[in-house]
Amino acid sequence: MSRLIIVTGGASGMGLATARRFHAAGDEVHILDRNSPQADGAAGIAYHTCNVADEASIAAAVKAAIGDRPLHVLVNGAGILRYAPSESATLEDWHAILQVNLTGAYMMCRAALPNLKAAKGAAIVNIASIAAFLAQTRGVSYGPSKAGLVSLTQQLAVEWGEYGIRVNAICPGMVRTGMTNALYDKPESIAVRNRKTALNRVGQPDDIAKVVEFLAGDGASYITGTEIVVDGGMSVMGIHLIPS
Ligand SMILES: NC(=O)c1ccc[n+]([C@@H]2O[C@H](COP(=O)([O-])OP(=O)(O)OC[C@H]3O[C@@H](n4cnc5c(N)ncnc54)[C@H](O)[C@@H]3O)[C@@H](O)[C@H]2O)c1
Repeated sequence: MSRLIIVTGGASGMGLATARRFHAAGDEVHILDRNSPQADGAAGIAYHTCNVADEASIAAAVKAAIGDRPLHVLVNGAGILRYAPSESATLEDWHAILQVNLTGAYMMCRAALPNLKAAKGAAIVNIASIAAFLAQTRGVSYGPSKAGLVSLTQQLAVEWGEYGIRVNAICPGMVRTGMTNALYDKPESIAVRNRKTALNRVGQPDDIAKVVEFLAGDGASYITGTEIVVDGGMSVMGIHLIPS
């Protein structure tokens, strides 16, 4: 059965990899993003301009994309990261990150709720981060925004279970995308990041897209209100390599 699917942040990175996977499986996919998709990856996939930080923009994009048709899968992938020390970061940065990463996902879920209810068995997948539970250098409100998104995932799973809607999150580790590409500009920076993972490599967007596909599908029919860490083992490396 072809499903109707919305992917926010689908213009690049993990969102684009996710949109491509669903499209390849024969689903009707709509990318909602403030930027248009990278031309080489989104052939045949519908795109609607949308700022997830703005409720009116979300409402217009959802209406244009799916009208009142049943929505089977909503993937909240839109996100931003701005580095600054917490001591001197501006409140503008603080609010902007929360507005996109947390409030944006909430507004998106609410806007799509009538369509999700109509699907009778829909799934929401939120792209959080291991920064939800691991502090990050100069992360400002990024970690708090993702911790909030994990909590929102639990909240909506509990409240919307009665509509048959499953709500789950993915916590990626280091993934090379447009958001993080500048961090991989030198071989040493790649090597140091590889060593931080048990699998000795940073993630690729499709490593995450595969798990989105799983959580959105029938294989996850009894999974709701939880998060899956997809980080190549980074978050369990804590005391490894400390001399014993
Ligand atoms: N790359 C990583 O290492 C990493 C790790 C953990 C979590 N994440 C999260 O994964 C998700 C996908 O990020 P990515 O790494 O693929 O980066 P990316 O920059 O390639 O993709 C993010 C997308 O979100 C869109 N976006 C940003 N603000 C928006 C807004 N206000 N309205 C609509 N669209 C907006 C961007 O245009 C972009 O297409 C994000 O939520 C990010 O926080 C990334």
